Amino acid sequence: MKDETATCLPKQLIEKLTTWYEENKRDLPWRQTKNPYAVWVSEIMLQQTRVETVIPYYERFLSVLPDEKALADCPEDRLLKLWEGLGYYSRVRNMQKAAQIICSPDGFSGKFPDSYESLRSLPGLGAYTAGAIASIAFGEKVPAVDGNALRILTRLMADERLIDQEKNKRAISQELIILMAEEKETFSPGDFNQSFMDLGSLVCLQHAAPRCELCPLKEDCRAHALGEEEAFPKKAPKKERRIEERTILRIRDGERILIDKRPSKGLLAGLWEFPNAFGHLSEKEALSFTEQLGLQPLQIVPLPEAKHIFTHIEWHMTGYEIRVASFEGKVPVSGSVLVTPEELMKSYPMPSAFRAYR
Ligand code: ADE
Repeated sequence: MKDETATCLPKQLIEKLTTWYEENKRDLPWRQTKNPYAVWVSEIMLQQTRVETVIPYYERFLSVLPDEKALADCPEDRLLKLWEGLGYYSRVRNMQKAAQIICSPDGFSGKFPDSYESLRSLPGLGAYTAGAIASIAFGEKVPAVDGNALRILTRLMADERLIDQEKNKRAISQELIILMAEEKETFSPGDFNQSFMDLGSLVCLQHAAPRCELCPLKEDCRAHALGEEEAFPKKAPKKERRIEERTILRIRDGERILIDKRPSKGLLAGLWEFPNAFGHLSEKEALSFTEQLGLQPLQIVPLPEAKHIFTHIEWHMTGYEIRVASFEGKVPVSGSVLVTPEELMKSYPMPSAFRAYR
């Protein structure tokens, strides 16, 4: 099917998928509750992060911050520490802003917003997340169209529209809205939306051959009939990532190590990092960098290379461990702190980009 053509989804789609879901759904902690705050936490964590990674984070987050009030009041470093390792930190910053609006008398006065429209008004709640919470926690008939749903539906309809274009995503959502509106009242919109997630993870796979023999939509699937499942979904070619070279410095005396706080805006905002410089510095340049901080290097040892991939940038890193004479309690640059390895692990959120040097 070519661009701009409306699909006509099979009438039995909801029934087939929800029946399959009832029999095959994964037993996941956020499925034990309809509490909208817990559903929200899970859906934000699950964006760009795998289910197995999310489970322990989800459980710890809810035990430390059990409701929107606790989230609204949480100090920044504590919050970022709970998120450390999950990446895409703007997700949790937006969640805190949204929690503050929910709790504020000028916002929702502590009453969790209970409709797609009101959820959509909050920071960080796009069409997908608002749809997921509204359908799972409140039973509202709205779709939650993620990459799984797009893959399944474009395969089902051999739909050639590019799924990374907003207008195409919106059109596919609209087709689901119509289908859901026409369905009998007894179906569960949350189960229907989550059936795409499970079918996408267990059967209609993204990075491996789909297991069509297990699929409840096998008879309806046009891509399957054509033997071209893996030709869908169609996507626009990706822009290449920019490569940035960096040198990471672990500057330490006998017991403490120097870390800095990143600026409050931009990539990895507000997180802690080891001092670092653009480019791959030679030993001599790294020593002179350290001296410019007013420190006296005693010894330098090269550290292994490492790579970290962000959405649009790749860091190609080298590093050095530099022993200095005692810091004597003085930090060389304002905004830096000296910490023991234990303090670093416990209280200072540091992005995974630095994992190799921690
Ligand atoms: N991915 C995003 N939301 C999910 C959910 N509710 N269950 C499983 N995987 C998901």
